[in-house]
Amino acid sequence: MEFKHDVIIVGAGLAGLRAAVEVAGNTDVALISKVYPTRSHSGAAQGGIAGALGNEEPDLWEWHMYDTVKGSDFLADQDAAEILAKDAPRAIYELEHMGVPFNRTADGRIAQRAFGGHTSNFGKAPVKRACHAADRTGRVIMDTLYFESLRKGIKVYEEFYLLDLLMHEKRVVGLVAYELATGAIHTFHSRAVLLATGGFGKVYKTTSNCFANTGDGVSAAYRAGVSLQDMEFVQFHPTGIYGLGVLISEAARGEGGILRNRYGERFMEKYAPGLKDLAPRDVISRAMAREIREERGIHGRDFMHLDLTHLGKDRLAEKLSDISSFVRIYLGIDPADDLIPVQHTCHYMMGGIPANLDGQVLGENQQVIQGLYAVGECACISVHGANRLGCNSLLDLVVFGHRAGKRIVRELGDLAWNPMPKEPDKSFLVKIEHLKERQKGESAWVLRNEMQGIMTAHCSVFRKKEDLEKALAGIQSLMERYEKVVIDNRGMRFNTDLTEAIELGSLLNLSHVILVSAMAREESRGAHFREDYPERDDQNWLKHTLIQKTGEVCRLSYKPVTITRFEPKPRVY
Ligand code: FUM
Repeated sequence: MEFKHDVIIVGAGLAGLRAAVEVAGNTDVALISKVYPTRSHSGAAQGGIAGALGNEEPDLWEWHMYDTVKGSDFLADQDAAEILAKDAPRAIYELEHMGVPFNRTADGRIAQRAFGGHTSNFGKAPVKRACHAADRTGRVIMDTLYFESLRKGIKVYEEFYLLDLLMHEKRVVGLVAYELATGAIHTFHSRAVLLATGGFGKVYKTTSNCFANTGDGVSAAYRAGVSLQDMEFVQFHPTGIYGLGVLISEAARGEGGILRNRYGERFMEKYAPGLKDLAPRDVISRAMAREIREERGIHGRDFMHLDLTHLGKDRLAEKLSDISSFVRIYLGIDPADDLIPVQHTCHYMMGGIPANLDGQVLGENQQVIQGLYAVGECACISVHGANRLGCNSLLDLVVFGHRAGKRIVRELGDLAWNPMPKEPDKSFLVKIEHLKERQKGESAWVLRNEMQGIMTAHCSVFRKKEDLEKALAGIQSLMERYEKVVIDNRGMRFNTDLTEAIELGSLLNLSHVILVSAMAREESRGAHFREDYPERDDQNWLKHTLIQKTGEVCRLSYKPVTITRFEPKPRVY
């Protein structure tokens, strides 16, 4: 079928929903989601949303901006960081007024807690800045925004999977989607498309990301010729449940939790004497990896302990009930009595589709691509630079989702209906037919496991040239083998075998892009740590990476970082 809507938003996490709420009203807006909307990955965000409300102790947006820039290892564009920090209180009170049930202080204001890298007075001491609803903050914001969007009459296409963007003379005119329930391929004609498709942590073996995070939107933009930005910066969260990657919120350390090595030592005292367990994630993940390399992992193995035993049952029940139940369910232990085995887990992609401060996607020569917008983790508005601070993600989603929505409303009058390409679904019909007919080849899960193994072994918290080269050769060979991928299920309904095979194509593309970008950046900055270039090199590398697909190869270029208030300084915690 062909559907037609003025505005199509792809992705029903917080960024997509916040934009949808802004656009809805007089505009015909549709929301497409690969999963049932309230199962989007924003629902897994636990610890909080940052904002200098100053409800628990003095705080200023300027301090929040400074922490964001310093946390980013000075790669964040400072105009974006300023908007993020300045707009945070408004955005959070707006959520409160929509009905988000935040935890409260004794006098009834929104409660706040400490989180990694958030400080008062330009780095002097940790500050309580994370507004939260226990450890299910993303979940409650998502439910609130989803019901708000339904109340405003948004049309939702649930369990529709984005296959490709449709372009006409370098403008976006719509998209092709696959309906999971029926196996039908549909086209959507529109004047504006907003991508809010989230991250792609599934390129790694251990990740806090959900199964749906396969980078469909980012890969579609790349295939459509958009350069991707800063793709080498991949964040590992220090505390995933060992072996599973399931997130144990940083809020656990915000509430006083401590990381310990096999000797029971609080090893972060050594690596970040000021902030200790509340240092930014890149610093802690590397510290853990070092401890493990030097055989101070628990039992000499590849995990550490998170100690919450001193917090007490009541505090765990009030502030950390979800993670306490995860630990009971997945590990069969009680965090009030037992130490939790944790290891770093791929959590967040700082890079993505380059977009300006209103979410307009930037194409050639950094010119806006008419009708195409991107927000949230799939986008790179460049507010997180080389490393994102905890609780700045939910904030990014609502601040920039709101701005993109407003921009679409302002611009829609100028966006014409452009013609759709002829037979827009043809190439996918053919591709799916071929997939179903092919009898010989390898299954997607075999290739996916190899890809995840390669990326985890060679492009994780430590990187070096030989490893990256090895990984690139491995991924290139997987891309060739992928041409012959086979599926067992040839049916139409909920054919996950088929969708996983298609998703793998995106994941392989994105792995390739991460590796090429990481090989080129011969310095260490934020989450990108090169053992062969262990220092930050502002002279040569204080710039954003852009990578573009040109035929079968890719081309790298660079663009400057916007610096307004804070000159780059060594990053000490
Ligand atoms: O640890 C956490 O709760 C994660 C928060 C975030 O990624 O912002």
